[in-house]
Formats: sequence, structure tokens, C-alpha cells
Amino acid sequence: MKNIEHFIGDLLTNTGDSPNQLLQHLCKIQSHYSHIPEEALQLLTDRLHIPPVQIISVVYFYSFLHMKARGEFDIRFSDNITDRMLGNLPLLESLCKKLGVKPGVPRADGRVTVALTSCTGICDQGPALLVNGMVISRLNEERIHKIVGLIEAAIPITNWPKSFFVVEDNIQRQDMLLSQGIIGGSAIGSLVVKGGDAMLDWLDSSGLRGRGGAGFKTATKWRMCRDASADEHYVVCNADEGEPGTFKDRILLNSYAKCVFEGMTLCAGIIGARKGFLYLRGEYLYMRKMLEKELQKRRDTNCLGKNILGKQGFDFDIEIHMGAGAYICGEESALIESLEGKRGIPRNRPPFPVTCGYKNQPTVVNNVETFVAAARIAVFGADWFRSVGTEDSTGTKLLSVSGDCERPGIYEYPYGVTIRQVLEDCGAKDTQAVQISGAAGSTIPPQEFYRQIAFEDVPTGGSFMIFNQKRDLLEMVDNFTRFFAHESCGFCTPCRIGGTLMKNLVNKVIVGHATSYDIAEMENIGLVMQKTAHCGLGSTAPNSVLDTLHKFPGIYSKRLLNRSYEPAFDLDAALDVSRHITGRDDEAAHIRYEK
Ligand SMILES: Cc1cc2nc3c(=O)[nH]c(=O)nc-3n(C[C@H](O)[C@H](O)[C@H](O)COP(=O)(O)O)c2cc1C
Ligand code: SF4
Repeated sequence: MKNIEHFIGDLLTNTGDSPNQLLQHLCKIQSHYSHIPEEALQLLTDRLHIPPVQIISVVYFYSFLHMKARGEFDIRFSDNITDRMLGNLPLLESLCKKLGVKPGVPRADGRVTVALTSCTGICDQGPALLVNGMVISRLNEERIHKIVGLIEAAIPITNWPKSFFVVEDNIQRQDMLLSQGIIGGSAIGSLVVKGGDAMLDWLDSSGLRGRGGAGFKTATKWRMCRDASADEHYVVCNADEGEPGTFKDRILLNSYAKCVFEGMTLCAGIIGARKGFLYLRGEYLYMRKMLEKELQKRRDTNCLGKNILGKQGFDFDIEIHMGAGAYICGEESALIESLEGKRGIPRNRPPFPVTCGYKNQPTVVNNVETFVAAARIAVFGADWFRSVGTEDSTGTKLLSVSGDCERPGIYEYPYGVTIRQVLEDCGAKDTQAVQISGAAGSTIPPQEFYRQIAFEDVPTGGSFMIFNQKRDLLEMVDNFTRFFAHESCGFCTPCRIGGTLMKNLVNKVIVGHATSYDIAEMENIGLVMQKTAHCGLGSTAPNSVLDTLHKFPGIYSKRLLNRSYEPAFDLDAALDVSRHITGRDDEAAHIRYEK
């Protein structure tokens, strides 16, 4: 293995020594050494002029970075509720047993670590795992058996069967975005012909709203950014796609990257940006090479006498930045912090990124699907786009359908489609509930299946997880509360403490120790989190608990103890050790509860 000094020297020679590159350097060091060696800290400090303590805080913030070695084979099982429904835990147990390793702890010989990770975005082809950052889909016992053989024979993953690493697009229904391609440069060509003002008016009248969840009008965002005077403007594509159950950006990046980059370049042309970033979630590392190739193709492609990308062309270029396993980095201000090489702690807002974003300069952050839609509108027009959807939600929406149905995958529908229609199309039967918009979204019971996917009814970033009558919805709630407690960035108390309390209370219900007092506590904590958390993660984290408490009270009430209060743990039993040490076991050495 390369000497660390040479490795970092080469890294900085190739990518420069800007402190903004810290996270990118750390990702490369982690990937090469399976951890961040101590010596790397001082070397990075010397070259980037960042104190070691700041570098360590960044390492501890991102789940995919570690100070301790994970071995030649670093394995993480995706642990979304849909992976659980497909049996990820027995497969993890089987792999651990065969390899002789405990979950989360490197094997005694240091060669392999097996652990869990948050949703990897492969819910339609799960259970899935990451090995050294690369996705293996459709796990079963046979694959686990083969993986053990490959690890024990020390076969590098580049020589593992290619079939393991296949991730299909799995498009089940196409509409206006997925059914037609566009020629590279055509959106920019249209911008050159129409001019920036007219193009913004076009986007405005198309009614396009952001597809990442919040639904802010795209033309308004771009106009505000363009009008903010500054030395530089930036375009950022949010490809973090961390919301559990969401995988629609995966297929846009995989098969429609040209459109994504076209949309980013269109935006750059309008707001006057020379630099753009694609912030790609760490779990999608397997697409990076292909995306870099696509960018290079654009740098070599001519449109109106100029290259589409690069200094020789429209003076705009795009850089790919990798995430490293932090859901909060999908929040736009946390994403910008992460782009600057820091921990992804959400900023105070206002000011919003449109006036004060990357390097405090005006920055547009949009979802992948938003850029694809914008590029299409620039080519096909506002009326074309408005011709489908509803008055307030024009165009189509990509849904990532997973869970209990015959045909999971990507479904593109005009806005306004009912939940019932989607369930019918994907072959869902006997559905108990649909979780829409991920762990942060809403739990929809059958009596609401008439409702529409639309900003004015049930909005969604794209996740559509289905649960049939055989499922215990409390397992879903448990999975989501654990997810939020793990993903909280820890900056504010309501989320840091509230999230953990909520997780513990859900567990108390599951193990049969909860009372009606605990249910009231869950409601109270949930409301505090919704009202006082610093960012959208904390304010949406209690949604699944509050929704199921109101819409599925039976999943809680059937487990409650018939008394007003029960402690979360047995204090008397906890005193056993002290009794043993002091040699006392009389009545006064015990705590007795009133029954
Ligand atoms: C915790 C959290 C996670 C988020 N994750 C994503 C994400 O993965 N992708 C995304 O596009 N937007 C995500 N968002 C929303 C972004 O903050 C932002 O609103 C969006 O990228 C804007 O793009 P749009 O206008 O095209 O929707 C997240 C928000 C929060 C609070
Ligand atoms: S709400 Fe949670 S994720 Fe957001 S700032 Fe507070 S602690 Fe961090």
C-alpha cells in the first residue's frame, strides 16, 4: 500500500489544497486505507491549514469515515424498513456467522467488518449491501455464501462476479420526463435563442415547482439568485437522495444524466454561474465514473460553435462532490456546508442559499428531477408541461415504489394521480398503509387512498412504501425513529434529545412496558420537535409516530399495560451490583414499586 505521505501528496497535487476539498480528500483516504490513519491528520493540517481537531470532527460526523481500520472488506447492509421486510437481518446474521465476525466490530484478523447502514436507495431490488462502497443488490443466501468464499479467498471486489453489482433502472411507467430524450445542448440552444428573461418567464408559466420535497417555484428561485449581486453565482444539484424509500434520482442519474447536466447548464446560463456541483450521495459511488465520462463528453461536444461545458465553451463546468453517509446533508444549507468540506450542520436561515450559499455567494440548489424537468421545459415549452398535472402541481412526478407489491420500481405519473391508482398499477393487494415521502412523510390508511399525489393534497419527494395487512406497522415506526435518532446532526436539543427519547419510547411500547402515560409523552415530545427543531429533519422526525398514533391507534393500545405509569427500566434490578458489592440484601436495600 502506498506510503501515506506520497498518497496525500499526489491527492493534493491532483485536486489542489483548498480546505473546501477536505471531505473529498477524506473520502479518498478512507477508500484507500479503509480508515483515516492518524498520520493523515497532521499531513492534511499542514497542507490545508485546518486544525486536526476540526478534521477529526468531520471524520466523526460522516458515517462512512472512520479512524479505525475496517479491513479489506468493509460491508454495510442497507437497513431501511423495506430491506427488513425482504429479510436483510437474517442475511446479515448468516454472513456474520459464516465469517466469524460480530456486527459493527472488525474481525480479529482485521480483514473484514460487517455492519448496518441507513437506506441505500436500492429498495426495489433489496436486500442490498455496500462492499467497499459498491452496491450489491438482490441478496439471498446463495449470494451470501458466495461472498463468504470470495472474502476468505481474498479476491478483490474488482474480480467479484459482475452480476452482483447490477442495479437496474426498473422503470415501470413512463410519462413526459422518462419517455423522451433530448439532444445535448438543446436546452442551452433554446436559452441562447430566447434569452434569459424570456426563459425565466417560460419556466414561471410552466408552473414548475421543486421536486425535492418543499415544492418551491423553480423560476422564482432562479430569478432571486440571478438578481442577487455578487462576484460569483453557483448551481448545485442535490443528488443526496437520502430519504428512506426514495430511489428515483438514481435512475435519472444513471440513464438521464445528459438531461440533469443540461438543466444545470441552463440554470447557470440564466443566473450567470461559472461553476456547478453535483452532490452525489456516497451510496451512489458506483455511478461516479459513468457521470465523469458524461461530463467529459459534454466538454467535448459542440453546440452553437462552443463546447457545452468547460472554459472553452459557455464558461461553465460541473464538479462531482461525494457525500459520505449523512442524511442531513440533503438539507440544502447542510449540503452547502458539506460542499465546503465541513460537517453538515444546517445553517440559520435566512439568509437563504439563493443570496448566501456556497462560499456565501448566491447559489441555486435543486433536486435532480427539477433540473431534468427544467431542461425539458426549455426544449418543449411551458404549455407542453402544463398540459398534464393539476392547477397547482403541473407536470409529472416520479415515484419510487417499494414494499408489498408485485411490481416495485419507478412510476412516473401526472400529478393528481390517486394513491389507489398507484397501488392498482404496481399490483399491491390487501394494503394496510402507504408511507408517502419517506420516513419524514405521512402514513396513509386505506380510507384515504382516494387522495391525490399533489402539492395541494399529498406532497412527496418520491418515496412510496407499501405495507400489507400482515405487517406490524410498529416495526416501521421503530425503524424510522431509530433512523432519525442516528441521523440527527446533534446541533439542537429538541432533535438530539427528542429523537432519542422517541426511539426509546417506541421500543418501550414494542417490549410491552409502555402505559398511556408514555403515549402522552410521545405526543408531547413530537409536538415540541415539530415546533422547535432547528431544521426540517427534527421537525419531521416525529411524523410517523404522530401519524400512526392518530390513524392506527390499535398498534399501540394492544400492547399497553393497564396502569398509569411504568418505569423504562427496573431500578431495583439495576441495584443488584451495588447490593452484591456491599453485601446487603435487606428490605432497605431494595426499591419496591406500588402495584
Ligand atoms: C433532512 C432533509 C433532507 C433532505 N434531503 C433532500 C435530498 O436528498 N434531495 C433533495 O433534493 N432535497 C432534499 N431536501 C430538501 C432540500 O433542502 C431542498 O429543499 C431541495 O434540494 C431544493 O430543491 P428543489 O427546489 O428542486 O426541490 C432535504 C431536506 C431536509 C430537511
Ligand atoms: S433538527 Fe436535528 S438535524 Fe436539524 S439542526 Fe437540529 S439536531 Fe441537527
